[in-house]
Amino acid sequence: MINAIGSSLSILVLHGPNLNLLGLREPSIYGSVTLDEINRLLEEEGKKLQTEIIVLQSNHEGVLVDAIHQARGQHQGILINAAAYTHTSVALRDALAAVALPVVEVHLSNIYRREPFRHHSFIAPVAIGQISGFGSQSYHLGLQALVNHLRTLDKS
Ligand code: DQA
Repeated sequence: MINAIGSSLSILVLHGPNLNLLGLREPSIYGSVTLDEINRLLEEEGKKLQTEIIVLQSNHEGVLVDAIHQARGQHQGILINAAAYTHTSVALRDALAAVALPVVEVHLSNIYRREPFRHHSFIAPVAIGQISGFGSQSYHLGLQALVNHLRTLDKS
């Protein structure tokens, strides 16, 4: 039992490299929504779900690794768009495995419809699941899935 049903949860949202440029960056792929707008959307959804949302964006792998380590005992789950590190980072994968918190992986674009190097995720095997291809809605759906998973765990 992690939390009583209906009690507040805390979720760490991690955004990887270049996501600070959302809105400007390749809008035909990633859309025109900015990272601030995505974070506001998550915060609003978090309120509805009685869930605290703590957000970090970094372009540095080690900063993301440190944040994952610090999530232990502070958050009940991690929602992550590791961006390019999805396809390269054994360090992020190992950090997520080490802390053993429930993880949901999200991507704005459908990584499986893109270049072959994006088809492999180091994060997927340590995540509960992955949501890819729904633009900013991927985050929204990912947060709902993660909170639903945590609340279901409460009941078992
Ligand atoms: C991304 C997909 C990655 O392949 C890419 O490197 C990103 C963003 C997405 O959200 O669609 O930076 O994670």
